[in-house]
Amino acid sequence: MKASDIKATLAFSNGGQAIDLPIYKGTVGPDVIDIRKLYAQTGMFTYDPGFLSTASCQSSITYIDGDKGELLYRGYPIEQLAVNCDFLETCYLLLNGELPNEAQKTEFTNTVTRHTMVNEQMQFFLRGFRRDAHPMAVLTGLVGALSAFYHDSTDINNPEHRQISAVRLIAKMPTLVAMAYKYGTGQPYMYPKNDLSYSGNFLRMMFGTPCEEYQVNPVIERAIDRIFILHADHEQNASTSTVRLCGSSGTNPFAAIAAGVACLWGPAHGGANEACLNMLEDIQRNGGVSKVGEFMEKVKDKNSGVKLMGFGHRVYKNYDPRAKLMQETCNEVLAELGLEKDPLFALAKQLEKIALEDDYFVQRKLYPNVDFYSGIVQRAIGIPVNLFTGIFALARTVGWIAQLNEMISDPEYKIGRPRQLFSGSDKRDVKPIAQR
Ligand code: SDX
Repeated sequence: MKASDIKATLAFSNGGQAIDLPIYKGTVGPDVIDIRKLYAQTGMFTYDPGFLSTASCQSSITYIDGDKGELLYRGYPIEQLAVNCDFLETCYLLLNGELPNEAQKTEFTNTVTRHTMVNEQMQFFLRGFRRDAHPMAVLTGLVGALSAFYHDSTDINNPEHRQISAVRLIAKMPTLVAMAYKYGTGQPYMYPKNDLSYSGNFLRMMFGTPCEEYQVNPVIERAIDRIFILHADHEQNASTSTVRLCGSSGTNPFAAIAAGVACLWGPAHGGANEACLNMLEDIQRNGGVSKVGEFMEKVKDKNSGVKLMGFGHRVYKNYDPRAKLMQETCNEVLAELGLEKDPLFALAKQLEKIALEDDYFVQRKLYPNVDFYSGIVQRAIGIPVNLFTGIFALARTVGWIAQLNEMISDPEYKIGRPRQLFSGSDKRDVKPIAQR
């Protein structure tokens, strides 16, 4: 970051000592006011619940321009990566800062391919769960459990360990997600097959059975690969911030990523794709497009607590570029599967049309986000609704690791320890119980 020649002066209306705070400029995007010395100089904290105006770190991985609706991974627009690259190239880019050349791509792909199996003992963790356990509960457990198997790559301060655990996590997430799915269906687990692509292998582990050869549909393979690319990273969102804070204690990468999985599960975050599809199915069950107006009135009524899931975003105040690409992928998959008339897709497009013309949404700059169409395309592929967030976690694992590694390799990093504005009881004495 570069120091700006402008300083911020903090003055106090009671004539207290004003202080100058340095301002730093990034490559692009908002400048920052460095408040690291604020408490020492003023005895005061800043106050920013939800961190709406707080930069928690300096990062060179992903940049979002919320007003323009732009998303860049290491400077490359998501629209170009989604068309010209595959997910493993995107993983290489996020981890290393540059796109791989042919040789680097081949080596990285081979390395990931050869780490897709999990220890046979992992199956016994699954047996402890009810068959109808939510896959995110299973996944949170399985990812954390990886730290029990790989003691040779848990020292987060060792660059080699970070590299090995990055490959292991990227390679094993598809296997674990597929195992969580198969466990719920009662079908046998499918072992990875090394002559398939990363995404083709995932599809086979999900939908193949030992009883017959599984044919990977190239259109579906490309679609799931693109879904992974679109979800790979997204600046300091809630789950990434969770991974950074968790990793800042020096815990092992598997534990930090398990914390990210747990945070992503929430319906306001990665769980929105599941919530969005459930919302569409509810509207469909209660009358479909003819009931959209009534539903929208509920959304606009603050007391209803009803939100249009898959809409709105903390940063995007324009169309989420991933939603546009997801809608295209949706079109391709539905056409390939002869589901162009999918009523939920028609309903979603109708909801989007009404919302984009409605003052409530326009005023609040609420647009479709990545979760609005992702559920429809995943459902068409055959992925169960309660596994949508597991797919999101699979894809976001590379982003979490890249962000965690960036933090750990920053010599300035320390354990995260926010402060508070205390509004509780002042000091008081305990009374004997007879007097309480
Ligand atoms: C993801 O951070 C990331 O980058 C996340 C993510 C990633 O890749 O990591 O992009 C993935 O989490 C996408 C978001 C998925 N969540 C949803 O689709 C759930 C529905 N969306 C909302 O919960 C909400 O939009 C948030 C949580 C996403 C953003 O909330 P903010 O920025 O805190 O905005 P807000 O709640 O303060 O909204 C501002 C106004 C409020 O109304 P007023 O109080 O001003 O009258 O807009 C309203 C909100 O009530 N509003 C909505 C709405 N989202 C916001 N009203 C109806 N439906 C919605 N979806």
